[in-house]
Amino acid sequence: GTVPEHTPKEEFGDLVAALPRRQQSILELRLYQGFWLPEHWVSGTIVFQRRFSPRPDDVVLASYPKCGTTWLKALAFAAAARGAHPPDAAGHPLRRLNPHDCVPFIDDIFAVGEEAKLDALPSPRLMNTHLPCTLLSVYPVINEAGGCRVVYVSRDPKGMAVSLWHFLRRAKPDLSFAETFESVCDGTVAVGPVWDRVLSYWGASVARPDRVLFLKYEDLLRDTGANVRRLAEFMSRPFSAAEEAAGDVAAVVELCSFDKLKGLEVNKAGSGNAGRYRAMPRDAFFRKGVAGDWANHMTPEMAARLDEIIREKLQGTGLAF
Ligand code: A3P
Repeated sequence: GTVPEHTPKEEFGDLVAALPRRQQSILELRLYQGFWLPEHWVSGTIVFQRRFSPRPDDVVLASYPKCGTTWLKALAFAAAARGAHPPDAAGHPLRRLNPHDCVPFIDDIFAVGEEAKLDALPSPRLMNTHLPCTLLSVYPVINEAGGCRVVYVSRDPKGMAVSLWHFLRRAKPDLSFAETFESVCDGTVAVGPVWDRVLSYWGASVARPDRVLFLKYEDLLRDTGANVRRLAEFMSRPFSAAEEAAGDVAAVVELCSFDKLKGLEVNKAGSGNAGRYRAMPRDAFFRKGVAGDWANHMTPEMAARLDEIIREKLQGTGLAF
């Protein structure tokens, strides 16, 4: 007989329905293994944890939403693919595709039961996830010979909160900043709490710096070139002296700069959604691209409150924002 085929949603529907539930603006959240996941990701996450088999040369780009995912995807793709696609080439994929269409988003692929697409990717694979390190099935592999590598980009939670509010407002225009801010503070935000998530990657990067590269959005803004070099080295594709002399690092930085990407026809309003599975317009991923914009949206009291929450949660870990 034939083997019945079930989507992850059908297969794990009962399990998901039994999890604690919370509504956060446009999202239904479920508490799974300590994190508030958007409900439509939970079953896919379970499948991911059971079936994802990392390859030794995989590089997984990880981030909390609104912390620089799009930029990291562009930079890593441009650096990794620079042999086939020189960064200054007129026909570079990043000039005609949104970065989310250059690097697949593992979470959504598993959520819709299309993991065969990941299997079909040629090595070395470059992929992206919003899941915390503790939920990734690659996590135990980080500690074993032959496991894959992870690059994590973090961001000052104040900047993330403001960016998140603007992003969610694209789908829910009357959403107040106060509501989003409260969700960030009490942890009931998509893939939150923020601190547990960032610490999951920070801990892994301290234990295995060769396997987990921990970046900060604000550092990327301050010195993009230095971070592109770190990224390339970490992916085992360091820039050669000849490439350095030819200005290839600067060309990658330029290709992926906020103004360049935002200005492309493919990323303008009305150009369609970002990524195959995402329901967000592409221009929503390019708003302001600076550090410190939070001061325009929250009172000094709010800023001090969030800073204090984060300081307390990160105390003694060596990580600070
Ligand atoms: P702001 O809303 O503060 O402008 P993500 O990609 O994880 O969704 O994060 C989105 C944030 O990264 C947005 O922040 C966006 O503007 C910013 N961003 C996107 N592309 C960027 C780039 N090339 N350089 C700098 N920031 C970028």
